[in-house]
Amino acid sequence: MARVGLIGATGLVGAEMLHILEEREFPVDELRVFASARSEGRRLPFRGGEVVCQVLRPGAFVGLDLVVVDVDDPLAAEWAPVAVAEGAKVVDNSAAFRTDPDVPLVVAEVNPGDVDDLPKGIVSCPNCTTMVLVAAIAPLHRAAGLERMVVSTYQSVSGAGQSGMHELADQWDKLAGRSDDLRRAGVTPGVIEAGEVWPLTIAGNVLPLAGSVREAGYTSEEWKLVLETRKILHDDSIRITATCVRVPVFVGHAMSANLSFGRPVSRAEAVELLAGAPGVRLVEDGHGYPTPLEAAGIDPVLVGRLREDPSNPGGLDVWVTGDNLRKGAALNAVQLAELLL
Ligand SMILES: NC(=O)c1ccc[n+]([C@@H]2O[C@H](COP(=O)([O-])OP(=O)(O)OC[C@H]3O[C@@H](n4cnc5c(N)ncnc54)[C@H](OP(=O)(O)O)[C@@H]3O)[C@@H](O)[C@H]2O)c1
Repeated sequence: MARVGLIGATGLVGAEMLHILEEREFPVDELRVFASARSEGRRLPFRGGEVVCQVLRPGAFVGLDLVVVDVDDPLAAEWAPVAVAEGAKVVDNSAAFRTDPDVPLVVAEVNPGDVDDLPKGIVSCPNCTTMVLVAAIAPLHRAAGLERMVVSTYQSVSGAGQSGMHELADQWDKLAGRSDDLRRAGVTPGVIEAGEVWPLTIAGNVLPLAGSVREAGYTSEEWKLVLETRKILHDDSIRITATCVRVPVFVGHAMSANLSFGRPVSRAEAVELLAGAPGVRLVEDGHGYPTPLEAAGIDPVLVGRLREDPSNPGGLDVWVTGDNLRKGAALNAVQLAELLL
């Protein structure tokens, strides 16, 4: 049995964590939940009872074996080391430690052995797009050596937390109120005002810049895909380029990836490799392709539209979708907690 702390229990990822701890019957002896002062005293349902939100303070983690961190990067950077100093191991879902060479970055199905060495007492989970994509491509990489990957993402608004969900929902409500206008030619949804999370309207739109602009014009989300994929696969030579796009979907990220390998990989071989891969479900029957809606609420990463690339013999095109709150965050954190304990 374990004594567990959960920082950010009222957020999208934190709420999913509580569900998954219950679903997987994680052996929790004691659960302490933390959120901001806004939520102090709030009661959250857990295993037929309730847990009460506390604020973060020194000494809050004394006696805990494990602390899962589901808050933004500055808070994680501040409080994860406090939890370690007070005796807990930390599983962090933020980006605060992902590129730290003394903190392993782990996808449970891909590099579970990396949790065995925790110089700082912390293990990081990758960002949600990298997590979903790497779970799907790792079996192909292991078999044939991924050399280059060109990715475009279609990221849901829940990737930006509760505020992203609220912004899309508010804008959809306004759009619904104008449905008569929208049916008339010439009236576009652009008349809905932008909100606070994104500088442009997200409802009925596609924003080709997820994250904030960094080096060489690529965004923070795009650089995460490059650097985190290499770290998880233990191969800095893989050439990766990405375009990260925000789409008006509530839950479930999708990505299209073009893959080149050290040796040719046929579609038949890829199907065979993926059919038996842990945490992966190949969707090639029915309507023939997986969507974010189908991936939302389930554990596996869905893979489809596997094609041999005629412009690059031996390469593949693939479509991947997964629940950004489950495999993209909370499920992986619980899987890592299981490995640690
Ligand atoms: N959303 C995703 O798809 C996803 C995927 C992978 C990783 N992540 C990462 O997971 C983390 C959480 O993301 P999220 O989407 O769950 O965000 P969120 O929905 O915005 O939730 C944020 C959480 O932080 C808490 N918080 C805010 N200020 C606090 C403070 N001063 N002290 C203690 N707690 C505080 C909030 O509590 P209140 O409710 O009291 O404000 C809430 O529980 C982030 O680092 C994010 O990058 C998210």
